[in-house]
Amino acid sequence: MYFLNRHTLLISGKGGVGRTAVAAAIGLASSRAKKRTLVLEISYEESSQSALGARFGRPNLNEEALPIDDYLAIGRLNAKVGHSLFLRTILPSKTLIAAALRSKAVHKFLTAAPSLHEMGIFYHLLTLIQKTRADGTRKYELIIIDMPATGHTLALTGLPAILLRLIPAGPIARALKDGQAILNNPDLSEAWIVTLPEKLPVTEALELVDGLTETDVTVGGMILNRMPPDPFTEDERAVLDAYCETGHFFGQLTLARIRAAKVAMSDLKNRFDAPVLTLPEVVDTDLMTNPLQSHISELMGAES
Ligand SMILES: Nc1ncnc2c1ncn2[C@@H]1O[C@H](COP(=O)(O)OP(=O)(O)O)[C@@H](O)[C@H]1O
Ligand SMILES: [Mg+2]
Repeated sequence: MYFLNRHTLLISGKGGVGRTAVAAAIGLASSRAKKRTLVLEISYEESSQSALGARFGRPNLNEEALPIDDYLAIGRLNAKVGHSLFLRTILPSKTLIAAALRSKAVHKFLTAAPSLHEMGIFYHLLTLIQKTRADGTRKYELIIIDMPATGHTLALTGLPAILLRLIPAGPIARALKDGQAILNNPDLSEAWIVTLPEKLPVTEALELVDGLTETDVTVGGMILNRMPPDPFTEDERAVLDAYCETGHFFGQLTLARIRAAKVAMSDLKNRFDAPVLTLPEVVDTDLMTNPLQSHISELMGAES
């Protein structure tokens, strides 16, 4: 079974390939399978609109967890929230925390060093992963993170190892180790890379596998998104190809695209030895009506 038997899924890939669409669709499918699910996006600018929220009709999403229904919530991770949650664990009083957050020097320190921005995001994520209900069970059984572009993703997944070398003990180190125990444990966490069935995106996705592996994150598989439908059998295609050689015809570009997508898919399967799942190009991209969820639900049930 794909996706459902992990605690956290990192949905990664380069911009525009469909990470947000896929993260939202997996979230919806998981919640429909009655798993308490939280889909998260990383907010780099607080005031910015939420691409994830927009898929659920909430473009102004700014909460860490906004319930959509009994099983699904969506939210945003924010470095500032992470910093204040962290200060709360190390400073004895609310007044001190507020003072620390107001302090220009602290603010400068927290925003100037890039890893501290990532640390805020990381800590915010950790607190959400660790949230429990009254009976002690996890508040969110599956947390799906719509990851940022490649560079930011690797900065985040590479953070614990780098920072632990600088700060090997104390409360920051403890938080980093807690995070590692979840995010670097293949039984609990997996990254899935979304890519397109084209030459360059496939190469970039394979590079991302190497990058994530170097940061000790397990790549569960790839999602080849927007696969063009192919209505032809091999025999039919051979007849069409022969016919197309006699001149120029309407539809030749589509035929070429189908061919290129298949070449990219088999190239990817040859060079990558974890599962490659495909999602079709859909015409309707509205989250609630498009068929991606049903495809994902089917994939979820598939043997893995
Ligand atoms: N399978 C698909 N079929 C058709 N359009 C898609 C599909 N997946 C994503 N899209 C569209 O592609 C665009 C980019 O998707 P998005 O999820 O925002 O990418 P990312 O988050 O990787 O930048 C959006 O307009 C989205 O609706
Ligand atoms: Mg996106």
